[in-house]
Amino acid sequence: MIPGPGRSITAFAPGRVNLIGDHTDYTGGWALPMAIQLGTTVTLAPGGDRVRLSSSVETATADVGVDVVDPAAEDGWVRYVAGVVAELRPPSGGVGNVTTSLPIGAGLSSSAALEVALALALGFTGTPLELAMTCQRAEQRASGVPCGLMDQLASAAGVEGHALLLDCATNSVEPVRVPEGCEVVAVHSGRARTLADSDYAERRRQCEAAAAEIGPLRDATVADLKAVVDPTDRRRAHHVITENGRVLAFVDALKSGDLEEAGALMVQSHESLKVDFAVSTPGLDELVADLISRRGVHGARLTGAGFGGCVVALTEPGVLDLGWRLTPSGGAHVVPA
Ligand code: GLA
Repeated sequence: MIPGPGRSITAFAPGRVNLIGDHTDYTGGWALPMAIQLGTTVTLAPGGDRVRLSSSVETATADVGVDVVDPAAEDGWVRYVAGVVAELRPPSGGVGNVTTSLPIGAGLSSSAALEVALALALGFTGTPLELAMTCQRAEQRASGVPCGLMDQLASAAGVEGHALLLDCATNSVEPVRVPEGCEVVAVHSGRARTLADSDYAERRRQCEAAAAEIGPLRDATVADLKAVVDPTDRRRAHHVITENGRVLAFVDALKSGDLEEAGALMVQSHESLKVDFAVSTPGLDELVADLISRRGVHGARLTGAGFGGCVVALTEPGVLDLGWRLTPSGGAHVVPA
């Protein structure tokens, strides 16, 4: 059906890079992502009973009924469009297009940016937290991966010049200023993420199994781990407990401008994600080792789910001539006409 002459809506949603605190969000812990200047724009002329979108980076066109019920049955990026539509149940669809400056599948939350921008373009009104929770459900339905809230919340609630301390027990957001005199750079490991979906779900189950024995991991200490019977579950929980501590220590380091300490915490985080959580790859390990051996690099770690994708580095300005220099940016919004 051809849409009516309604005015088109343009919405932008940023991607995110996580500075520290990975695989903590779905255990009710802390994470410190920041929204970045790279993101996704959706322009939609409302009308009709289907959502039809072309994309600047995908060959397939999305064509989804507003009554779609099984987003996971769609192919590729269309699943995410269908996930948002299935969650929002908009009264009407629309015709439009998607453009993005984000690398796809690199661990900078291209799918969250698409979901959040599309939800706004479809007329979502609500708080950034409500927007993020709607899009988290869309992502889970689309991908079948039981992801946490970090990516969608960072995209929805970004604050220019700041990283976001997420308390995933209460879903509150505290902006933390990123100090002058440093740069955040993401560098691709050259490998797209592999096997991430089933491994992610397995890690989450292992954390839940440990929490069933010793209580919420956010309140647990390393000493409590003795009571976790399964050694693999114990290692996973060891990562989460120590990573939560590192997030809070990293925030203190940023607030006091101690970039050396912040960098050291990133390196410890990578080691923990590699050894305890087993979500690194040889490519990510080599890249971190290479980056931290360079003058002016305070620290580096894998960022996001792992299994490939990007490394994030904290550096003195201008020392790396590779990757994406990322600026802490504002959150998703409708672009004024
Ligand atoms: C993915 C998920 C997030 C989070 C990270 C790991 O990006 O979508 O919710 O769990 O992995 O920190």
